[in-house]
Formats: sequence, structure tokens, C-alpha cells
Amino acid sequence: MPLPAPGPMSLVPFVSVEAMMKIVLEQGIERMLIDLARYIEDDFRRWEQFDKTPRIAAHSSEGVIELMPTSDGRSYGFKYVNGHPRNFQTGRQTVTAFGVLSDVETGYPVLLTEMTILTALRTAATSALAAKHLAPKGAKVMAMIGNGAQSEFQCLAFKAICGIDTVRLYDIDPKATGKAARNLAGKGLAVVPCTSAEQAIEGAQIITTCTADKQYATILTDNMVGSGVHINAIGGDCPGKTELHRDILTRSDIFVEYSAQTRIEGEIQQLDADHPVTEIWQVLAGKNPGRRDDKQITLFDSVGFATEDFSALRYLKDLLGSGAGHQMLDLLADPDDPRDLFGMIERYGKAVAAA
Ligand SMILES: NC(=O)c1ccc[n+]([C@@H]2O[C@H](COP(=O)([O-])OP(=O)(O)OC[C@H]3O[C@@H](n4cnc5c(N)ncnc54)[C@H](O)[C@@H]3O)[C@@H](O)[C@H]2O)c1
Repeated sequence: MPLPAPGPMSLVPFVSVEAMMKIVLEQGIERMLIDLARYIEDDFRRWEQFDKTPRIAAHSSEGVIELMPTSDGRSYGFKYVNGHPRNFQTGRQTVTAFGVLSDVETGYPVLLTEMTILTALRTAATSALAAKHLAPKGAKVMAMIGNGAQSEFQCLAFKAICGIDTVRLYDIDPKATGKAARNLAGKGLAVVPCTSAEQAIEGAQIITTCTADKQYATILTDNMVGSGVHINAIGGDCPGKTELHRDILTRSDIFVEYSAQTRIEGEIQQLDADHPVTEIWQVLAGKNPGRRDDKQITLFDSVGFATEDFSALRYLKDLLGSGAGHQMLDLLADPDDPRDLFGMIERYGKAVAAA
């Protein structure tokens, strides 16, 4: 006798790391970054519709594990993500993630996916989207400080979305810079490996800091930053983990994702709790002009917010609807009689015995 097959409501679309890599290759990474940025922008523009809470973080001496939930009333999404700067020593990623999108009406998940690659894409798309409104007009050169897992995604998003044509790379680990330079070769960017942060920011109108350290670090000091630049600071995203000297912050106009979370986790944890900041949705919704003049230093103090992951999940769900590869995972119990969960196990046991 054949074993009972999973019921129709037990199956949830699942995107593995392999399936995600195929999707990236099929879509083309720049096209994917542009499309993702559109979803992220659309959701920021309807900011009021979302449940918002600072993410729930479990800290340890080695890193942090976080849950990032949000809902727009129709769909619910969350991401599980970690940040462990010393993980590379054991061959692991600093950041790894997976996430779920659910239907609010039934509470049933409609998508389970890897989000390590998707986080790199959504972080880069968000950074470039913010820079489109904050960076000096016509910016062509970006300094990319920290050449780890996120860095190539950042460079390509700034090319595709902001029109950057040159990246100046620096990392304390020259092997990381070599890796990023190799990966970016032939991708339509002039790539300039540098041997110091000072050298990397020469002539750059945009400075991205994307380093990983569990302590207060000073990747940029005040004297390194002239007027008229845009700083995209994404590595400082935990209590006690920052990248910029405080004096840079007081000279900058600061833009954040969700101030209640960024005041705990971002560069602005170094400032008073009432220091003025602008939430980026206000710029995207046309309520704030973003960059006002050529001399201004703008800072996007990015920590990553749940709506960006929600947008990424929504984008991926739509892609699956138009045929992108995935598997169906037997994730939810689906007894013939919804009240007879126990009996489902008994019947399965009998079927196994008879098989
Ligand atoms: N804001 C967001 O939404 C968001 C999303 C993803 C990751 N992050 C953060 O971005 C950072 C980078 O992530 P990743 O996955 O690329 O990490 P990674 O460990 O792969 O790379 C970090 C790189 O920074 C370099 N580095 C460390 N200290 C440095 C210094 N003083 N100067 C120059 N380079 C230095 C390291 O050598 C390494 O190559 C992490 O802190 C992570 O938590 C933020």
C-alpha cells in the first residue's frame, strides 16, 4: 500500500540557496537590484500601513541573533538573521539568514526562503535607493571600505541604481580587497584597489563603510570627510558596534530607516536620544527633500529594517508566481479532518506498517 502523500495544504514554496543562485543568474544581478529597490521604495512609501517594532536581538560576546517581524495587515513577514564578526575564522559567514512570508487571513506561510543572498541584495538595493536621493548629483566615484561578503553587491547596486562608474576598494585584509577586485572585474566598473581608507576616499563623492567588528571602531575620522559627500554606513548595526567618529555625525544630516531601532543600533547611538534625524521613507514619499545643497554631508545610518525584508519576500513571491524555480516543502500538517491531528499520525503509522 503506498504511503499517504502530503495533503495539498501541507506544501509551502521553498527557495533554497541553490534555487536563489539560479534566480540571480537568470534575472541578472543588476536587474534584480533595480527591481528589488522598486519593491523596497513602494513599501517605504506606504510606511504608515506597517506594524513597526525594533528588531528582537539576543546578544552574546561573539555576536547577535535577531528576529525582524513586520506586517501590512495582509501579509506578515519575518527574517532570522545573525551577525558574528569572527565567524570567518571557522569558515562561516558573518551574516546568515532565512525568512518567511505568511498570509495574515489564515496565518499560513506562503513562502520559506534562504535570505543570506537575499539580504545582501536587499541591503545593497536599499543603500543605493537612499543614495539616489541623498548623494551629490552626478556622483561617479564610490569608496568601498570593507570588502567582505556584502561589498560586491553594494558596488553593483550603486552602479545600476545611482550610475557610479568607479569603486575604490579598501579592507584591512588585502585578500578581501583582492577577492572583491576579481569578482568585480568585467562588470562595467573601474576598480581601484587601495591600501588605506584615506587613499580609498580620495575623489569619492560617496563613501560606503561595510566593516564587521563587535566593538566601537573608527573607520572614518572627522578630518577624512570633506563637505559635499554622501556616507552610506552599513556596518555599524548593533549596540557597541559603530564605524564613524562622533564628530562626523554632528556635521552630517542624518537619515535612518526606523529611528526607534537606529537609536539603539546605529551610528547615532553615540548621540543624544533627541538628536534630529530624518526617516528615509519621508524622503521617498516626497515629504523631505533629501540632499538640499552641494556642501551638505549626508549620512545614511543604515542598520537594516524589517520592511526591507518584507519587500524582498514580496518580490521573491511574485517572481515565483511568474515561474522562478523553487521546491514545495511538506511543512504544515494537513490532516483530512483538521481536528484530527492525532489520528493523522495513527493512520500514517498503520500505512507504514502495511507498506
Ligand atoms: N545595514 C544593514 O542592513 C546590513 C545588512 C547586512 C550586513 N550588515 C553589516 O555589514 C557588515 C559587513 O557584513 P559582511 O557580511 O560583508 O561581513 P564580512 O565579515 O564578510 O566582511 C567584513 C569585512 O570588513 C573588514 N574590516 C574589518 N575591520 C575593518 C577596518 N577597520 N577597516 C577596513 N576593513 C575592515 C574585514 O576584513 C572583512 O573583509 C557587518 O557588520 C554586518 O553586520 C548590515
